[in-house]
Amino acid sequence: MPRPLVAGNWKMNGLNRDLTEARAVADAHPAPNCDIVICPPATLISRMSATLEGTSIGVGGQDCHHAGSGAHTGDVSAEMLRDAGADHVILGHSERRSAHGETDDDVRGKVEAARAAGLTAIVCVGETGAEREAGRTIEVVARQLAESLPDGCDGLDTVVAYEPVWAIGSGGAASEADIAEVHAVLRGALTERYGADAEGVRLLYGGSVKPENAAGIFAIEHVDGALVGGASLSASGFGAIISAAG
Ligand code: 13P
Repeated sequence: MPRPLVAGNWKMNGLNRDLTEARAVADAHPAPNCDIVICPPATLISRMSATLEGTSIGVGGQDCHHAGSGAHTGDVSAEMLRDAGADHVILGHSERRSAHGETDDDVRGKVEAARAAGLTAIVCVGETGAEREAGRTIEVVARQLAESLPDGCDGLDTVVAYEPVWAIGSGGAASEADIAEVHAVLRGALTERYGADAEGVRLLYGGSVKPENAAGIFAIEHVDGALVGGASLSASGFGAIISAAG
């Protein structure tokens, strides 16, 4: 089993003063038993990198453009994230897919750009509540996985996060049985497509992961860590999840 990864997605939260939370996580976990990444808004990446310099905590963006540079007002390229100090980037988050109309093709182009810039892509898949009720969960996540990932992925450049849309921000995570079912399918699909190269690709669960449910989620087969939203904003909450991972 790969070393677990606990990633915090700060979404559109975080000002200069909140860097102290990240620093507190680093100070409380000088030698963690898992990899840790914090993904602040783009405005904080450079300062977050400086804050966490010398620690084992990585820094990630939350999106990037597929192009390297050019006339794309308001966008940020993978190389810019890397230049600001990021080593990871979340791509295809459901909030990007729904609010910005990102398609699997768009996400795949961004993953290729991230890889070219030397970033590890955390690629999100997950069904909506309506898709789950219609019995389409496996079909949807399998399609998103197949079409959002380019050829040639491995554990160094790719992480996959299963985030059921209906569980995000709801306070209630998916059941352990539902997580186990989807993660087994994702693991099987990765192995079929990438063979031995897929072994190191970590499968994170995301959607209302909290200190209270983290240990149970980490114990599920084929769960290699978590992508944490709300609970990653405080050092105490994120730290408790990190402790549960290792
Ligand atoms: P919450 O942990 O707040 O449910 O968010 C999950 C998420 O979307 C992480 O990317």
